[in-house]
Amino acid sequence: MPVHGLTPILLCLLITMWRILTPVSSHPQKSPCQLIQRTALCNNRNLYSVPAEQPDNLEEFQLNYNHIQTLQDNSLLRYPSLNTLSLACNSLDKLESNTFQGTKLLANLNLANNNLHIGYQETSRALKTLPKLRALDLSENELDDEMAATLLQNLTSLEYLNLSGNFLQRLDETSFRDLYQLKELNLQGNVMYEIDGAFDSNPKLQRLNLAFNYLHCLTDFHMTELVVLNASHNFIEWFISRQDLNDTFQLETLDLSDNKLLFFPFLPNHSHLRNLYLSHNSISFYQHLADNNSTFPNSTSTVEFYNMQKNTGNVTAQLWNESLHGDISSLEILDLRGNQVEYFPQGFIQKMPVLSRLRMCTNCLEALNLTSEQFSGRLYELDISNNRLNQIVADGDTLTALGNLTYFNLSLNNLGWLPSGLFSSLPSLRSVDLSYNNIDICLPEEPKTSTDTSSACAHWKNVVSLKQLYLKGCNLKIIPSSTFSGLSLTHLELSDNPGLIVQESIESLSRTLQHLGLGNTHIQDFDFSHFQALKSLNISRNSLAHLPSSLLNLDLKVLDLRDNRLSTISSGQANALASKLHTVFLTGNPFNCCQTEWFRTFETTKTINMVGQSDIECEDLIQTTHRVEHFQPLLCLAKDGESILWYILLFVPICLFFVGISIIVLLTFKPKMLQKSIKKKCLKPTSY
Ligand SMILES: *[C@@H]1O[C@H](CO)[C@@H](O)[C@H](O)[C@H]1NC(C)=O
Ligand SMILES: *[C@@H]1O[C@H](CO)[C@@H](O)[C@H](O)[C@H]1NC(C)=O
Ligand SMILES: *[C@@H]1O[C@H](CO)[C@@H](O)[C@H](O)[C@H]1NC(C)=O
Ligand SMILES: *[C@@H]1O[C@H](CO)[C@@H](O)[C@H](O)[C@H]1NC(C)=O
Ligand SMILES: *[C@@H]1O[C@H](CO)[C@@H](O)[C@H](O)[C@H]1NC(C)=O
Ligand SMILES: *[C@@H]1O[C@H](CO)[C@@H](O)[C@H](O)[C@H]1NC(C)=O
Ligand SMILES: *[C@@H]1O[C@H](CO)[C@@H](O)[C@H](O)[C@H]1NC(C)=O
Ligand SMILES: *[C@@H]1O[C@H](CO)[C@@H](O)[C@H](O)[C@H]1NC(C)=O
Ligand SMILES: *[C@@H]1O[C@H](CO)[C@@H](O)[C@H](O)[C@H]1NC(C)=O
Ligand SMILES: *[C@@H]1O[C@H](CO)[C@@H](O)[C@H](O)[C@H]1NC(C)=O
Ligand SMILES: *[C@@H]1O[C@H](CO)[C@@H](O)[C@H](O)[C@H]1NC(C)=O
Ligand SMILES: *[C@@H]1O[C@H](CO)[C@@H](O)[C@H](O)[C@H]1NC(C)=O
Repeated sequence: MPVHGLTPILLCLLITMWRILTPVSSHPQKSPCQLIQRTALCNNRNLYSVPAEQPDNLEEFQLNYNHIQTLQDNSLLRYPSLNTLSLACNSLDKLESNTFQGTKLLANLNLANNNLHIGYQETSRALKTLPKLRALDLSENELDDEMAATLLQNLTSLEYLNLSGNFLQRLDETSFRDLYQLKELNLQGNVMYEIDGAFDSNPKLQRLNLAFNYLHCLTDFHMTELVVLNASHNFIEWFISRQDLNDTFQLETLDLSDNKLLFFPFLPNHSHLRNLYLSHNSISFYQHLADNNSTFPNSTSTVEFYNMQKNTGNVTAQLWNESLHGDISSLEILDLRGNQVEYFPQGFIQKMPVLSRLRMCTNCLEALNLTSEQFSGRLYELDISNNRLNQIVADGDTLTALGNLTYFNLSLNNLGWLPSGLFSSLPSLRSVDLSYNNIDICLPEEPKTSTDTSSACAHWKNVVSLKQLYLKGCNLKIIPSSTFSGLSLTHLELSDNPGLIVQESIESLSRTLQHLGLGNTHIQDFDFSHFQALKSLNISRNSLAHLPSSLLNLDLKVLDLRDNRLSTISSGQANALASKLHTVFLTGNPFNCCQTEWFRTFETTKTINMVGQSDIECEDLIQTTHRVEHFQPLLCLAKDGESILWYILLFVPICLFFVGISIIVLLTFKPKMLQKSIKKKCLKPTSY
């Protein structure tokens, strides 16, 4: 059973459980269904058969989540106008062959999540009697290749078919032979390892989902009418389009993410491809190997795929020639996250004149020369985070040409050099992430000669469009006071810059700042009172022993206080925070178990989410750690928080100790006195 197919099954199970656990009313209702115009809603009503007492003119019948096992010949006779029938999540074994004798208008049939593998032959006879059937959902029915082929025989009117979550292994030209009208086909979550000419009879197919199967290659791709192909989550090593076709492919979206591609896919020569998703493969470019005869003198330059059965031609791919990627001139989104790309082949970026989003996160880029790459002026999002860049090069004209660049993520590189004036040259820039690089912030007095093309520091002075700036982990020590002048930032992240001196420089942002990150900066006495727009604040990992009181007047929604040294939050503070906060992070503080009133305050405030609530810990008097949630405050004195138990536990041994010492002293030094007193008492005559 494929993992992703489990969700609907789980849902069914849960609902079944719920039904078992819910007491069944002893008087079944007369009509278990809710009628809305010509739709009967009978979902989840404990039904074992199709209810009969619905109006004759019914057009839609929803019977999902019931226990119907067989759809009998006479079940639907009363409803000749029926157009939509949904029986998902029942226990259907079969549809009897004359089930639909009176419902010739039926167009939408949902049989998902049943047991049609048992009675597929009879069901197939029933389906054949539906001349207008347009949409059929057969997902999650444990169907194998032969069963599916039988069920689909002669369904010539079908346009939408869902076979997801079955046991299909191999498709060939007979699989969908009769489905001439098919437009959309979902085969997600089967166990397919081979597709051989399966869609040649489906010229109208526009959307095909092959995700989560076991396909190893898609060669000879020639479905020119297809608009969306999703082949993500397979084991595809090769994607090769047929090269000898002069037609323009209608393909707009191709999803090959989470596969095993080593090469950029060999795309059609002519297409309208707009969205290309290639994340999580092993794609790289290899031109440098081909150019280099000395390293691999006898290496092959082409790979051929032979088609053994038919004479449709062998597929030959020129491996190393990077001018042969096919038509990428309409690409708007290129997602290459999580691959092995070290560089872009010459002219590659230029071939995409309308590219607006390039996602290159987690690759191996070593250098980026924006001038030579010539990105499109449409570029809106550029994510080159988590590569190996230590320098980005660009001249002034190049930067002004990037007039639409809005999201720029450079984090997690090794950047020491940036083009000078990078950010001030980009007029639409909204979000910049420079986190985890070696970049400093320019000092105001640093000379800025116009001839310098690279600079080891960054500045954002007067970049009015900029709203979000992330400078985590840049080893910043001091932020010059004029750094943020002229900006109206809403988000500023300065976390992971231990020892950062920050107060003065961010005063100028006090009116606009909504999110401020100061985690792990060692701040102590920060005054937040001017930051009236602040909604979200991160002051985690700062060894704070007290909650800064300037926080209390803010209208904060999110507050991160993790990993500080807080021992308590006074009830005044807790009440002030509880009335405003939506989310609070508190784990990793050495709270005092006997001063946890704040916890009850937050716990009882329904509008607050204490993240990791059960992991918030406290220490008792002998430094033992407890979960605050389970600690019994009864063991503490209400007033000053000291426990009676502790008094008892502490004082009893001390008293016993002193009593013992006294006795020993008495026995040693005044034995006679003791004897006397004993004697006195013992010899006292007792009266009976
Ligand atoms: C189904 O189609 C086949 C040809 O593919 C044809 O011979 C047969 O008569 C059809 N059966 C029905 C019930 O339409
Ligand atoms: C099957 O696919 C259709 C679209 O082709 C979709 O509407 C339907 O929700 C899918 N059913 C399941 C159970 O995923
Ligand atoms: C392809 O299918 C996967 C799995 O269902 C899904 O997560 C992804 O969003 C789909 N891709 C596209 C482009 O719709
Ligand atoms: C498609 O492109 C390849 C490589 O450029 C070329 O060999 C082939 O002739 C082209 N096919 C057509 C139909 O233009
Ligand atoms: C491909 O089509 C174009 C115009 O549509 C035509 O000029 C060219 O000769 C065709 N090439 C081949 C190999 O058929
Ligand atoms: C050719 O190979 C040598 C040694 O492996 C390497 O130093 C050089 O950079 C390569 N040339 C190109 C163009 O990649
Ligand atoms: C590679 O070697 C072949 C012959 O072995 C030669 O014809 C070709 O010019 C060489 N290419 C380069 C870039 O050195
Ligand atoms: C390359 O091929 C030539 C001739 O076929 C052969 O003599 C030579 O040893 C081969 N070189 C390597 C490195 O395999
Ligand atoms: C495909 O390649 C095989 C093996 O080289 C060859 O016998 C066959 O004729 C080729 N087919 C075509 C259509 O080129
Ligand atoms: C790559 O293919 C193109 C088009 O077929 C050709 O013009 C070019 O010379 C080839 N480049 C290399 C390095 O083989
Ligand atoms: C960047 O590319 C431009 C244009 O190709 C070139 O003039 C410049 O020297 C390159 N810069 C570096 C540092 O490679
Ligand atoms: C920005 O994108 C729009 C279309 O989205 C385009 O018309 C405009 O020319 C682009 N700006 C630049 C500087 O290229």
